[in-house]
Amino acid sequence: MTVVILRTEEIEEGRPVLLPAGERGAATNLLVLRHGGTVRAYRNACPHMGIPLDWVPERVLSRSGRYLKCTGHGALFRPEDGLCVRGPCHGEALTAVSAKEDGGRVEIAEEPR
Ligand code: FES
Repeated sequence: MTVVILRTEEIEEGRPVLLPAGERGAATNLLVLRHGGTVRAYRNACPHMGIPLDWVPERVLSRSGRYLKCTGHGALFRPEDGLCVRGPCHGEALTAVSAKEDGGRVEIAEEPR
């Protein structure tokens, strides 16, 4: 298992953090965000084609800020559970990764694939 540690202040509401594989020891591309105060992490791989949501470097939030957005073909995902609500992978979901926040630290534990 790989554990990635971030500081609480690095994960702000409405500003997803993208960690490419190898950065901070991440084993895979990760996407970390705060939604409704809770930190969540997903593998940064769109269920449609497996490419990172930021394939085209731009914001990975929808214009409204309500959904995560894949820049490949515009799929929209709910931040709270990664479910795709619109786009070519409708009904599929981003792969969740364990994220725990405690004492100013965020611990992201990647299980081996
Ligand atoms: S690769 Fe994400 S919507 Fe097609």
